[in-house]
Amino acid sequence: MSHEEKLSTDGYKGVRDFYPEAMAVQNHIFTVMRKAAEQFGYVEYATSVLEPAELYEVKSGEEIVRDQMYTFLDRGERRVALRPELTPSIARLVAARRRELSFPLRWYSIANMFRYERPQRGRLREHWQLNADLFGIPGPEAEIELLSLASHIMKAFGATDADFEIRINDRNALAENLTTRLKDPALLPDALRLLDKKDKIGPDEFETQWRTLSDGSWELPTVPPENVSRIMERLATLHCTNVTYAPLLTRGFDYYTGVVFEVFDTSTENPRSLFGGGRYDRLLEMFGVESVPTVGFGMGDVTIRDFLETHGLIPKYVSPVDLFICTLDPSFFDAAQELANRLRTQHVTVAVNLLDKKVGDQIAYADKHAIPFIICVGENEVKDRTYAVKRLSSGEEARLAESAIPEHIRNATA
Ligand code: HAM
Repeated sequence: MSHEEKLSTDGYKGVRDFYPEAMAVQNHIFTVMRKAAEQFGYVEYATSVLEPAELYEVKSGEEIVRDQMYTFLDRGERRVALRPELTPSIARLVAARRRELSFPLRWYSIANMFRYERPQRGRLREHWQLNADLFGIPGPEAEIELLSLASHIMKAFGATDADFEIRINDRNALAENLTTRLKDPALLPDALRLLDKKDKIGPDEFETQWRTLSDGSWELPTVPPENVSRIMERLATLHCTNVTYAPLLTRGFDYYTGVVFEVFDTSTENPRSLFGGGRYDRLLEMFGVESVPTVGFGMGDVTIRDFLETHGLIPKYVSPVDLFICTLDPSFFDAAQELANRLRTQHVTVAVNLLDKKVGDQIAYADKHAIPFIICVGENEVKDRTYAVKRLSSGEEARLAESAIPEHIRNATA
């Protein structure tokens, strides 16, 4: 590189940097997800972002593998993928310990994944997903639990039932319904693909293409299959009133075997899919072990963030630092550091001034960084061991003994 050539400060296309304020939002999203998953009895696991590429080639939808996967050859000529999703990894973990694990398993993970997509609203090349999966329940109780968890998370973000809609279908029921009408059962994948784009291509084009697959006409089912009705009824008794039957919903992955669901934003400003999942009872078979019935979902951070923004649910930024200690002049640096260390043992997060600047400038600095409290250390404070703790947002001041500071701050920030 020549001397004049400067590096760009742009990151890689389609991935994000998180400056502290954006990181705080990200942490908020993860904290809500994690807390809800744990409240429902889910325990955390993690896997590597690197996986053998074959893991995805057997069962993930074709589009992901063909067009969206980041693959490379490592130095030993092995084909490696950056994970585009987590489901094959969790299946690998469960299959590897199929005999030792005691079912049902409730597992969750919050992990980043990579898809080579055209970056646009709601779609980036790196995103995070909460994955929650329940292994070992063949009946609709599993779907009910996962959808209750999904709904619980949305409400924990501050959403109401009116803000989002849970759409649900049974992919098997749709396939059976279609197969009886096709010229040849082998045309099923084509028929599913055609249905998937029905709204996009319009009724005339749909009719024309449908005729290449079938001799008769096809009516959209209006009554949900029995298992779907059951799930919807039970969810209603659990106060999820925003569940609707979506007869065309199939979702993109080949591994789903039954009920599938997808959650949508109801706002006209952000009419998008937020996250989805479904039942995949046979994925473990690709590892040559006996399968385990499983239901799960993946909830992405990008779409959730857009949802929270649309509905005004992003919390105001507050610094993770509780207190900034100002110094009257540099001769008080040591006293300030000692005070900071004592307060840190009492779980107060503290940053200390290190510059020879006017107290006014130090306070302005704390304010700019959204640190809620300041103390100024000078002669009197060192002598009396009492401090004026000032809340910057209100200007309110309390003169306190050192031992009373942690509680004062905790009460105010709780
Ligand atoms: P998916 O629908 O491909 O399903 O992804 C789940 C969610 O991840 C999406 O609804 C969206 O929120 C987010 N997401 C996916 N791709 C992107 C992207 N390029 N940019 C931003 N967000 C994205 C799965 O991945 C399944 N493995 C979920 C699952 C878990 N099924 C059962 N268990």
